[in-house]
Amino acid sequence: MKLAADEQEMLDGKRGKARQKAMDLLLRYGEALGAERFVDTSNVCGTVGASTPFLREYGQAHGGMDAVFSEFNLDSAEVVEIPQVAVRSAHLQQGIDPEHAERQGIPLEVVRLHRKGEAYTAGLGVQMLNTCAPYTVGNVPARGEHCAWMESSAVIYINSVLGARTNAEGRESAGCAMLTGKIPYWGYHLDDNRLGTHHVELDIEVETTADWGLLGYYIGEVVQDRVPVISGVHQAPDLARLKHFGAAAASSGGVEMYHLVGITPEAPTRAAAFGRKQPVLEIRYGKAERRLAYERANVTGKSRDVDFVMLGCPHYTLEQIGDVCRLLEGKRVHENSELWIFTPRQTRQLADAKGYTRIIEAAGAHLMSDTCSALGRVMPKGTRVAAADSAKQSHYLPAIMGVECWFGTTADCVDAAVTGRWSGGLA
Ligand code: F3S
Repeated sequence: MKLAADEQEMLDGKRGKARQKAMDLLLRYGEALGAERFVDTSNVCGTVGASTPFLREYGQAHGGMDAVFSEFNLDSAEVVEIPQVAVRSAHLQQGIDPEHAERQGIPLEVVRLHRKGEAYTAGLGVQMLNTCAPYTVGNVPARGEHCAWMESSAVIYINSVLGARTNAEGRESAGCAMLTGKIPYWGYHLDDNRLGTHHVELDIEVETTADWGLLGYYIGEVVQDRVPVISGVHQAPDLARLKHFGAAAASSGGVEMYHLVGITPEAPTRAAAFGRKQPVLEIRYGKAERRLAYERANVTGKSRDVDFVMLGCPHYTLEQIGDVCRLLEGKRVHENSELWIFTPRQTRQLADAKGYTRIIEAAGAHLMSDTCSALGRVMPKGTRVAAADSAKQSHYLPAIMGVECWFGTTADCVDAAVTGRWSGGLA
């Protein structure tokens, strides 16, 4: 790779040992990818520190958090002193919600170590957003902005909806980008790779948030990690719909970029979305495909007695929390079930101020932040059957936690929490 003067300086160790190791790792990474150079980034979202028990234990055994960063962000067995981050950096979701640790079955000792890890990371200058949806709480990259983000549901959102540019980075490359402000210039940083590869024509109106989740789930499975261009959307979906669509497409496949013709910024027309490329496949999405996606999303649902309902994947917006409050008002969660709702910690504060948290708690449900059931592996003890309004969560919960999981609308899910029974179905 061709290095700029500041990159060579970092590689030569003139800006300290940690940045030297970061540059060295990024160089190896970029060369493996075939990148010819780096691009500057001033917007990194990643994970640092002790977000899982294993990392916390590693830190304890090897002398602290610099050892964790060295090993797991810089790929260095040698422990180096970690300096302040060089560019705007934010932390994604973590493994626990320290405010609800007891309910999540997390021992106090783990909470103590977790808080220590958080203080360390914040001390490096990382914004502790602790969410998979940073774009809902102030980190909204501009069109064309080069970013280095982890988290598939966030990557697809900022590439497609905002027109920012990122690949799905890993813990190491994101950590190194935090220290250097550099990331290999390849993949979705390049114009050509952002052009459409598959064309999807909608034969039915896709309206509700659940419908957008199903569409994403279907498309992801068909196109895998390519770039779908979707025609026939007559009404621009809102943030929640786009969030669920992208998260689903990124979980059933590996979609990191899509275009909605006439809606997303790089697709004013179908021709613009494809540029010089021709679609490799024409796909139609109608009633039969919607049903197939619904059946796939519900493939593990067997018993209708629901122990646990998870809402907030990706983390809910304030409006979505308000919707749940309206569905819950005057009702109570069934004694054999639990309802946990996940949101960014900033949004939880807004929900507190608006009175939503009180309504949720009064119904016997709980508003949590910082983590989620699939990622943090946190569920009520003894859960066998879960339900979610997210195709992504219903995809991952059975795989990660070994439970059955139903997928349906938010109303289906709230009903399941209140009655303890799954009565959802495809309308
Ligand atoms: Fe977020 Fe967890 Fe879903 S991290 S996107 S709520 S799987």
